[in-house]
Order: sequence, then structure tokens, then C-alpha cells
Amino acid sequence: MPLDIVVGTQWGDEGKGRFVDLLAAEADYVARYNGGDNAGHTVTVGEQTFKLHLTPSGVIQPGTIGVIGNGVVVNPSVLIQEIDSLLKAGIEITPQRLLISYAAHLITPAHLALDRAQEAALGKGKIGTTLRGIGPAYTSKVSRKGLRMVDMLDRDKFMLAVRSHVQVVNEQLTNLLDAEPLDARQIEDELSRSASHLAPFIADVSTVLTDALGHGRRVLAEGAQGTLLDLDHGTYPFVTSSNPTAAGAFTGLGLGVGYEERVIGVTKAFQSRVGSGPFPTELEGEMALRLRGTGDQPWDEYGTTTGRPRRVGWLDTVLLRYSTRINGLTELALTKLDILSGLDPIQICSAYRRADQTYTELPFGPSDLSGYEPIYEQLPGWQADIRHARSWEHLPQAARAYILRIEKLCGVPIRLVSVGPEREQVVPIA
Ligand code: IMP
Repeated sequence: MPLDIVVGTQWGDEGKGRFVDLLAAEADYVARYNGGDNAGHTVTVGEQTFKLHLTPSGVIQPGTIGVIGNGVVVNPSVLIQEIDSLLKAGIEITPQRLLISYAAHLITPAHLALDRAQEAALGKGKIGTTLRGIGPAYTSKVSRKGLRMVDMLDRDKFMLAVRSHVQVVNEQLTNLLDAEPLDARQIEDELSRSASHLAPFIADVSTVLTDALGHGRRVLAEGAQGTLLDLDHGTYPFVTSSNPTAAGAFTGLGLGVGYEERVIGVTKAFQSRVGSGPFPTELEGEMALRLRGTGDQPWDEYGTTTGRPRRVGWLDTVLLRYSTRINGLTELALTKLDILSGLDPIQICSAYRRADQTYTELPFGPSDLSGYEPIYEQLPGWQADIRHARSWEHLPQAARAYILRIEKLCGVPIRLVSVGPEREQVVPIA
């Protein structure tokens, strides 16, 4: 069954883009199934670094067709800008190379205004969203008042729907959130221009992908964000509003179950998080600075979408085991192992303690992590620079021991390890 699914196992930013880029070399279709331009997938190819938010990162591989599924929320102007900037970088995105599901919902300027106003109203209790209108767009979807890509194809009806959408949001902004109303006409003009631009890309993604799978073509489903940001399975309420977990690939692309072959969980060799919410292994001070980097390299721990410094900490395998189960992972892909070079010892959280009791599983999932203290195992570090390693034998003994310990704690094999941002800086493990 030729469907592979790539999911983030942590709070996003695991480095999925670089493995999607790698696996896309073998794929015919690369399909995003959740989230919107809150995502930021960085791919480095030689001198060029691509930071993609909406377009599946696999389209950088010339032989692939990119797909945006119905589970994604699309900000049309962001997508148009991204298509233009890819074109400038020599990557042609035509309606033959990018298909957008007719059932994907739109993010409008009104959703952006609502996101800002809602976060401001929450004050200290804010989620710390990316302010990209994600929550409000999915709220419109579940309240059955959303605007979809297919609506763009009937201009007159679409303009009426946009006008009424802005009216409803304006009432919320002015009556409930103490914010300024929006100019409906301006939004209508903007969305009308976007509709002309994007109409040729709108397609029946479910049929295209099902036919492709039926004919043995390879489909790579690309999740955005991570398991711990999943609306149902993450650290609720500090989550995003979609399902980044593997099952989201089926609903978010319109596929029947059972096609999957590999479910690849991408995990960073340490833990990071942006925005608010619990983080048991969080570090501060010197060690945090060491893991985060100074921000002058594209791979340092600063948000691709917002530029915010990420919170960082030691790898948490209680949460990683949870992600392995929730996603049905067949394997793990470990990123940024090179960042741990020179640290000694390396710590890994293998259990939690609360009120004198030890927990290796969370009794009620990850949304209530308060009061759980991480229990750390100390593993010896390594001093060697591993950025040139290309095989298991090239890795120092201590780095191998770290990989083996993670496998043992999670019960799935680690098949790929990245040791730097470049395409070739990967160690495959047989
Ligand atoms: P939203 O998705 O913008 O509503 O933000 C909700 C939460 O998810 C916030 O904590 C964000 O920082 C986080 N988040 C959303 N997208 C990403 C991502 O791509 N990487 C990491 N965190 C993200």
C-alpha cells in the first residue's frame, strides 16, 4: 500500500520538512492534510533555504505533484505569495503541479482580526497562537459557516458570502471583543482577486489521490505541527485547531483507511515548543541557550512563521511513547542529533514522578501535565563533530547508545537520523 505518512511527534518544529523533502524524491504526490500557514517547513538545498508555510514542502522535488487537502485552511493571499516566491527561486508551480481541494476552508482577513482580538482578550491566559487566523477559520468550519475553495468558483455568490461573513465577524469584534470593525468592501476586493488567481488550482483531491493509490503511485502525506498540538490528543487547550496526527491524513485528504505503509514520526533529539502550555522537561539559562542557538542560522530554534524564540528542553520519552501509540508509528526519524555534540551528560526523561508515584504513561493524556516531575536518565555525551557522519559506523559509540535507548523506550526503530540541515546530512539506519 503506497501511502506514507509523516507526522510530528512533539509540539511541531521537529524538522519534518527536511525528511519530507528526502522522501518526496520517491513520491508521485506530496499532500498536506492539516493546519494552514501557521506551519513553517524549512528545507535547505545547497545555497537555497526554502521556508514554506502552505505549499507541501515536497514540491521542491521536481517529479512530484503537490496537494493541499480538505483538512487544510488556506489563506489565499499567503498561498499566492508563496507560489510567486517559489517561481522566483526557479520552482514552477502550475495547476498541473499543485492541486487544492475544493473542500479546503479559507482563512480570511476577518479570521486574522478575530485571532488577534481573541488572544488580546485572553491576556495572560493566551494560547500564544501564530496569529494566522487558524482557530477562527476552523471555528467557522465546525459552526458550518465557513467559506470553501469551491465557493470561489461562483463569483457573485462568493461575494455575497464574504459580505455576510465580514458582517458577522464585525459584530463579534465590536460587541464582544472591543475591536475595530473591518472594511467589507476591501476584503471582498482582495478575495475576488485571489479567486481569479487560484481557481485553476481547485480540484477533487480525494478522487485524484484514490485513483493514484489504486494505480500503485506513491503518495506522501505531510502533516504540519505535531501530535502534542493535536486538537483531540494534544496538550489541550494549548493546541492548534486541527488534527496533525496520522489519522488526520485520512480525513484531511478524503482517503479511505488502510492504504498506509509507513507512518514516520519525526522527532527532534531534544524537545521544543512555541507558545504557551505545559513543558515538563523545559530548560532555562545556559543550557537552553546552547540548545536554542543564537538565531543567526536558519536552523536555530526560532519560529519559522513568527520568529519567536522556542522554549527548549531535554527529550521527553513519556510523551514520545504517547505519540508512538496515538499515531501508530512504524518508525521514527530523529533530527538535529548534531546539536547534542559536546554536551555531557545528555539527559533523557523516561518517566514522571507525582506525589511519590512513578508514571511511565499519562493516566489522562498530556493536557494535564502539572505536578509531574521528569525522572531523568543520564547518558554519556560525545565530543566528536558528527555532521559528516553518513552511516551507523560513523557515529560515536555514545551517539549510537542514545539512539538505541530512545528506540528501546518507545518500542519502534529509528530509521533516519539527521546530523545537519543539508539534504545529504542524513544517516540511514538499516
Ligand atoms: P495556532 O495554530 O496559530 O492557533 O496556534 C496554536 C498553538 O500551536 C500555539 O502554541 C502555536 O505556537 C502552536 N503552533 C501552531 N503552528 C505551529 C508550528 O508549525 N510549529 C510549532 N508550533 C505551532
